[in-house]
Amino acid sequence: MAELRNYLEGRPNSILFLYGPKSSGKTTLMYRLFEQIEAEKRYEINFLNLREILLTSYDDFIDAFFFKSSSAENGLKAGILRQYSLFGLFKLDAFTEKMLKKHQEDPFLIMKREFQRLIKKGIQPVVIIDEFHKLDGLYLPDKQKRLMVELMNFFVAMTKESHLCQVIIASSDAFFIEQVYVDSKLRKTSKFMKLDYFEKEDIFAWLRDIKKYNQVHEYTLDEKQIETIWDTVGGSAWEIHSILEDLFQYSIDTIVSKIKRAKVAMIAEWTFDDEARNCLLRHFRKQPIRKLTELAGTGKKLLGQALYYDPVDGIYGIQGKSLEWGIKGYFEELERI
Ligand SMILES: Nc1ncnc2c1ncn2[C@@H]1O[C@H](COP(=O)(O)OP(=O)(O)OP(=O)(O)O)[C@@H](O)[C@H]1O
Ligand SMILES: [Mg+2]
Repeated sequence: MAELRNYLEGRPNSILFLYGPKSSGKTTLMYRLFEQIEAEKRYEINFLNLREILLTSYDDFIDAFFFKSSSAENGLKAGILRQYSLFGLFKLDAFTEKMLKKHQEDPFLIMKREFQRLIKKGIQPVVIIDEFHKLDGLYLPDKQKRLMVELMNFFVAMTKESHLCQVIIASSDAFFIEQVYVDSKLRKTSKFMKLDYFEKEDIFAWLRDIKKYNQVHEYTLDEKQIETIWDTVGGSAWEIHSILEDLFQYSIDTIVSKIKRAKVAMIAEWTFDDEARNCLLRHFRKQPIRKLTELAGTGKKLLGQALYYDPVDGIYGIQGKSLEWGIKGYFEELERI
């Protein structure tokens, strides 16, 4: 949060890419940031979570970004739908709206005008887009230009060149993050921030006091049980939540054994009759991260499907500790056959 706040305090100068493994809390962090600064009148936040929006055409993009009554509202998680200012709330006049729908108005110009209007009022516009890679595959109406690329160029202009708007883009799509990073223009005009799973000491502090953090009164966890949880799922908050729920009914050993078996089955299913996938995972049998250079010969697409990518260190990694157990168990099973 402090890093994000620090970024927002400065003059717009770069796009901030938030990346990290699956379920490390990127979206949660964005929502939390949103809640915090929403109350401050200095910022106008346009927040869009593309995961929950059906995007199949340019018109869907226009709908999501500019029209309140459209799918944009669905971008907010149920339960926290409040007075959020999100894309789709740009106050378009009827004429502009019509022209935009008829593809006779430039959406980028509309956004830029809105940013300029806000700056004049002393308000800093902030754009936050979660799951940005979902725009891939969409084209501008002239069919030539990739929407994702054009939008990214627009954001470079809005940050580095005209300093009008802060832009935060989150994605856990390894393929996308890698594409951004290899593009020298984007790399030079962007900041990269990693959100990883929790550290061990944080997990222990949490699980020693589930009464405080989760309002669990029915049971407590001893050190051995906490160690077992850490050993099984590491710092993945989502999986820990799930274990805490199951503990109302089952013993820790039962739960852990089921998690591991399920991951082995999942890996077996994913690798079935597929030598390339088997070969890729063999690299991760003994260690959860690998340098890109150690993975020569593995297709980029495949890497992106299976792993997360850390562009700063040039590392591909397994998406969580429990999956490491799955890979380990899978290869042990193969050896027994
Ligand atoms: N700081 C936190 N404390 C407790 N739980 C958290 C925290 N951050 C995230 N979680 C929980 O972890 C789960 C995953 O979080 P979230 O969906 O934000 O991750 P993500 O990185 O956006 O995932 P994805 O890669 O799928 O987009 C959620 O169920 C959320 O409640
Ligand atoms: Mg997310």
